[in-house]
Amino acid sequence: MPRLIAPIRIVQEPLSGSANFVDLYLRAYQPLGDYYYRHRAEVKAYLKWLRHRDPHGSFIAYDGNRPVGFIATDSRWNHGAVGAIHELVVDPEYQGRGLGRALLLHGMAYLRSQGCRICELWVGERNARARAIYQTLGFQENGRWGKWIQMVRSLDDLPESGELESTLALFT
Ligand SMILES: CC(C)(COP(=O)(O)OP(=O)(O)OC[C@H]1O[C@@H](n2cnc3c(N)ncnc32)[C@H](O)[C@@H]1OP(=O)(O)O)[C@@H](O)C(=O)NCCC(=O)NCCS
Repeated sequence: MPRLIAPIRIVQEPLSGSANFVDLYLRAYQPLGDYYYRHRAEVKAYLKWLRHRDPHGSFIAYDGNRPVGFIATDSRWNHGAVGAIHELVVDPEYQGRGLGRALLLHGMAYLRSQGCRICELWVGERNARARAIYQTLGFQENGRWGKWIQMVRSLDDLPESGELESTLALFT
């Protein structure tokens, strides 16, 4: 289903711990009520940790100068064979228009370009929306730890280049 987000740009750049990224993270997670850091200092430290894990592994969606979503991946997770998606966030005002999917495609393509063969992530068991997007993109449940579900996906069979390009073309 084509969804138009004409003014949105997706840019590969290190995550910032500035106030607008902290706000974006909190706005996205607050409706869920779980699975996130509540305190601004914790969020800032978490964003810093994400940036240090892989400064090239994050993609940020901008509407003008305003960040409206990001993905943080990690190509050095588990000695490089397994890449991780540590975080995916889309501003509630921009959700449901394919932006989360586009960010995921950028992140997976990046991990593959760095030589990762498998991609893993952890998602909250009651986070139905996130689980649905991962399932749609071919992730499968691989284990559980408390309220967290591990999902994995091979990076050998990313979506056909045509689909990838047409999705990404909406967000350049
Ligand atoms: C999860 C999240 C990133 C999705 O972003 P998004 O931009 O709304 O996602 P998309 O519009 O690309 O939707 C992609 C898929 O999500 C699913 N989806 C979208 N809206 C949904 C809804 N209301 N209910 C259930 N599934 C939904 C669908 O499977 C959709 O696939 P489609 O292409 O067949 O429509 C966003 O909801 C978010 O920021 N949530 C809070 C933070 C979070 O939970 N992050 C994940 C941590 S593991």
